[in-house]
Amino acid sequence: MRGMEKKLKILTYGCQMNVADSERMAGLLKEIGYSLTDEIETADLILINTCCVRGTAEDKVLGQIGRFKTLKRQNPALILGVAGCMAQKEGVNLIKRAPHVDFVLGTGQSSEVARVVKSLERERRHIVDTSNVSGEIPSEVFPLRGGQVSTFVPIMYGCNNFCTYCIVPYVRGRERSRKPEEIFSEVKQAVTEGFKEITLLGQNVNSYAGGMTFAELIAAVDKIAGVERLRFMTSHPKDLSDELIAAIAGGKNICEHIHLPVQYGSDKILRRMNRVYTVEKYLRLVEKIRAAIPNVSLTTDLIVGFPGETEEDFSETLEFLRAVKFDAAFTFIYSKRIGTPAATFTEQIDDEIKHRRLEELMRVQNAISLEKNLALENSVVEVLVEGASKTDDKIFMGRTRANKLVLFTHGNERAGDLINIKITQAQTWLLKGISFSGACVE
Ligand code: SAH
Ligand code: SF4
Ligand code: F3S
Repeated sequence: MRGMEKKLKILTYGCQMNVADSERMAGLLKEIGYSLTDEIETADLILINTCCVRGTAEDKVLGQIGRFKTLKRQNPALILGVAGCMAQKEGVNLIKRAPHVDFVLGTGQSSEVARVVKSLERERRHIVDTSNVSGEIPSEVFPLRGGQVSTFVPIMYGCNNFCTYCIVPYVRGRERSRKPEEIFSEVKQAVTEGFKEITLLGQNVNSYAGGMTFAELIAAVDKIAGVERLRFMTSHPKDLSDELIAAIAGGKNICEHIHLPVQYGSDKILRRMNRVYTVEKYLRLVEKIRAAIPNVSLTTDLIVGFPGETEEDFSETLEFLRAVKFDAAFTFIYSKRIGTPAATFTEQIDDEIKHRRLEELMRVQNAISLEKNLALENSVVEVLVEGASKTDDKIFMGRTRANKLVLFTHGNERAGDLINIKITQAQTWLLKGISFSGACVE
């Protein structure tokens, strides 16, 4: 094998933080001779980067691990590893359940991936390392970035908020912030590689504590030459500062989009979720943001079926949605996570009620999303071209500064171009338009 290129397939589940971690692990594995492949059947190393935020995310991972059993039987030289949040949570249980898994690496250990794989190349055994969940953030890691236009740069890891439903603080550890200089040099490197859009990542970017505030950090990144669009996520409503609002309003390339998860629209449930703000406070924050950044787009996350949710709480939430009018919302059914406080709450909600409420919530929000998008018809928006759409290579896709997806028939555009598009048709989840060099999308 020596001298031959070894093939690596990474399957990434979960949030943007996992995408960023996978790119870092791919970078480390490249240094020991692994190059990425899309073909699972011929891979020498398969790495599953996992999520455990909801039961459905875990089920997907377990299904995938099960499917690799045959592959491993056919090719005993194959190395199979599990990393990420579910690896952190389950540790050795994953090996007990699926002994064909060679290694399990927790979230604080992802920078050890090359060392672990090298040792397995020499000698086969099971390796499980989940010991250091709040570990130091390794510097000097060169991520192997996917895509070509837009990329993620983590600025902090972990979470200290302990919302009562959420497993993330347990599997990602306490908040740790990267040093500004490291962030700046990573952004510059990404720009050199051709990326135009940078998204700064953290579970709660507003509690960044690397020696400056998040508002100062984003303003400084905004000045880096070649960063044509700058985004950030996620913001906890309790910490979104006036200073950050001013930084976005006064920024050069900071996009006018804030993902501001509200989670629920009644004070009783917010209290039980430990979100530490009230509906009233959230509404005032939205008003303040809209006054300072008039064309801002606001998106959110919502959970239905939290223990103790009554019909009255639920109608308050629908009313809240109609009052705020988010551009889009990601809606989830509450999933009981063992080890979190809410898992022990009495008054868990029936599946049937959860599903009915989710559908109703989506119906209300979809109408609002459509209404918001219809208001854009006939306007001209700036689009960052990402490339051919997933289903038709004659149709291109890109995103507006508000992060809305736009489809258009392409003329001479290339991925990475910033172009003006006239919106001809709005739908709930996307916009269709005409580029000044192309034709209209039917
Ligand atoms: N740190 C971010 C994102 C965390 S996970 C934040 O605080 O916004 C992304 C989303 O998953 C959350 O916003 C929440 O809406 C949802 N989520 C987290 N735990 C969940 C659970 N147990 N059941 C259902 N949805 C959950
Ligand atoms: Fe989970 Fe709350 Fe932390 Fe977000 S802020 S990761 S929802 S505990
Ligand atoms: Fe992200 Fe899932 Fe972990 S949402 S932080 S990959 S539990």
